[in-house]
Amino acid sequence: MRNFLKWSGIVFVIFLSSTLACGTGSVKKQVVSPDGKIVVTFLLKQGVPFYRISREGQVLIESSRLGFRFKNASPLVNGLQIFQTKTRTFDETWKPVWGQDDHIRNHYNELKVTLREIAKTQRKMTLVFRAFNDGVGFRYILPEQPNLKKLQITDEVTEFNFAQNDTAWWIPADYDSYEKLYHKTLLTQIKAVNTPVTVETPNHLYLSVHEANLTDYAGMTLKRVDGTHFECNLVPWPDGVKVKGEAPLKTPWRTIQIATRPGGLIESHLIVNLNEPCALQDVSWIHPTKYVGIWWAMHIRKWTWTAGPKHGATTAHAKRYIDFASRHHIPALLVEGWNKGWESWGAKQVKFSFTEPYPDFDLKEIVRYGKAHGVALIGHHETGGNVPDYERQMDAGFRLCQKLGIPAVKTGYAGAIVPRGQHHHGQWMVRHYRKVIKTASKYHLMIDAHEPIKPTGIRRTYPNFIAREGVRGMEYNAWSDGNPPEHTTILPFTRVLAGPVDYTPGIFNILFDSSGKHRVHTTLAKQLALYVVLYSPLQMAADLVENYENQPAFKFIEVVPTNWNESRVLDSRIGDYVTIVRRNGENWFLGSITDEWPRLLDVPLAFLKSGQTYAAHIFADSKKTNWVTRPTPIDIGTYRVSQEDTLPVALSGSGGMAVWFEPISAARAGKLKSLAEFERTVPGKIAIWKKNARQSEGKW
Ligand code: NOJ
Ligand code: CA
Repeated sequence: MRNFLKWSGIVFVIFLSSTLACGTGSVKKQVVSPDGKIVVTFLLKQGVPFYRISREGQVLIESSRLGFRFKNASPLVNGLQIFQTKTRTFDETWKPVWGQDDHIRNHYNELKVTLREIAKTQRKMTLVFRAFNDGVGFRYILPEQPNLKKLQITDEVTEFNFAQNDTAWWIPADYDSYEKLYHKTLLTQIKAVNTPVTVETPNHLYLSVHEANLTDYAGMTLKRVDGTHFECNLVPWPDGVKVKGEAPLKTPWRTIQIATRPGGLIESHLIVNLNEPCALQDVSWIHPTKYVGIWWAMHIRKWTWTAGPKHGATTAHAKRYIDFASRHHIPALLVEGWNKGWESWGAKQVKFSFTEPYPDFDLKEIVRYGKAHGVALIGHHETGGNVPDYERQMDAGFRLCQKLGIPAVKTGYAGAIVPRGQHHHGQWMVRHYRKVIKTASKYHLMIDAHEPIKPTGIRRTYPNFIAREGVRGMEYNAWSDGNPPEHTTILPFTRVLAGPVDYTPGIFNILFDSSGKHRVHTTLAKQLALYVVLYSPLQMAADLVENYENQPAFKFIEVVPTNWNESRVLDSRIGDYVTIVRRNGENWFLGSITDEWPRLLDVPLAFLKSGQTYAAHIFADSKKTNWVTRPTPIDIGTYRVSQEDTLPVALSGSGGMAVWFEPISAARAGKLKSLAEFERTVPGKIAIWKKNARQSEGKW
């Protein structure tokens, strides 16, 4: 990668002879992770290829088949022999442009097996397996060859044969949307899933299946065939073909993250490590940022996207939002509904202009005013799914942004894809999303895609792909039953393993709907904690700015960074609670959230620098907080702490705690309250919250 790339590769080639065959007609090759714990076994049984994965002797994925079926050729699933194998070790440390950690080690052992048909056609297929300490990645390569040129893949035969019927967190497979609530069931209760799908074994191993480097290929869903036996089911083209291409062709990596605690999945860099180094020479224009937006007001129907008496995107509103952002150190403003075409949204064929503002939105003046106040404008391109129309205008839209000094664009694909029959997650759209990122990079634009293709680590190669939705985000609280308290305690272990999420936290007016029909199902302190828990280099302060005025809690959003030197998961149980700490420079930030149950977690502050005193600015649920009836009371206080202390993280039902640990001088430390004063408030709170929890039991 860019800065300090180091690699120590030993490559050796072994031409396999029949002496390596074991048993009748079967050949076995293995590759082991650098720490010796994870073993990937490749098997060729009577000409049929399989793989198997185990950790410290425990089989996690039983023998699972590999191969392809084609529309225009006979399948590559059997009748194969080993032509060549290669192994190598790779070890590099690279520096991402932004991320959860400022350097990433990419260390694996690799086994590359090239198979060749025994039949006259002698077609070849290579399998590459990489064993890391934190999991496994494997991919297929169909090399250039005389008897396999144009490809129409109808089925990638890859199987995931889970060794046991374990518990899984999953969303149903859908070719167009990831905006779903998670289920927790046994593997045998699943029909089909979108990835990442995360599994816990009875002896507390955690596995998550996903894919890395999804490039010019269809997105993968998993379909259960029988028992705990799943198969890759690629998202099709309208004619049923899954992937169209030409050899040489590389598939995305099929990834299985493996950890001994749930937090290990979050700390893993397996997915970005299986992507190509940064393709951009100059990345000086790529910056993580926070933003406010003319956005929530439309979702709660206070304002409209379309022009008219309630139009949100007016020059006056934008200036008011810029004034607020400028006063509160929020560097950017998103404005939706600024451009002509919103009247067509929801119609059969949507048609937006990406260059013409509505007359009441003075684009040039707003950008100028923003710049004068240190606030950048984030552009918005909602396509409604009309992709050909967007591709026609994309350069002009991006050129306008670059000309005016707009550094980022939020894109949207809310609607069925044109041409009809194409899916958001199919190969045709995978190509489109990549085209957008590459084109945007030419105009020095960052992209935040909504209704996107899932993240697969492409951010390593194109770090201007700054964030994406692909989640049932905050907006659902505005107009649906909303997201239950446990939702955000599952996301870090599923969706966010794939990459940053534009969840859009920070709703302070939690009971915003006077009719009581809609609301946010958390406390205020939990909204703050989400800025640490849900990783994204792009974080929105999603509420109406008037709801932030005179709110001391907004201080946390002002100070919380969007880029990190280091991140650690201290304690967690998927779907129950999670505590994450992240460091930016000398400052540490903690976010802890719980599902509907109150909890008391003892968090040792051992991560702080030894010998340093910190001011812990704590934003905690108060004893009056009740997420059902009174979600907004919050206790804010500053206490003196050091590495030797243990912080009682007290969370009310659907509550949270957010802490900023600021290093301070001895003189300042002397003036602060001791942590004991905070500790004294905890037992009383817990007693009240437990009583509340019993009263609201069964609500979710
Ligand atoms: C759906 C997006 O997720 C949301 O953020 C946006 O406001 C609407 N589409 C309109 O573009
Ligand atoms: Ca959406």
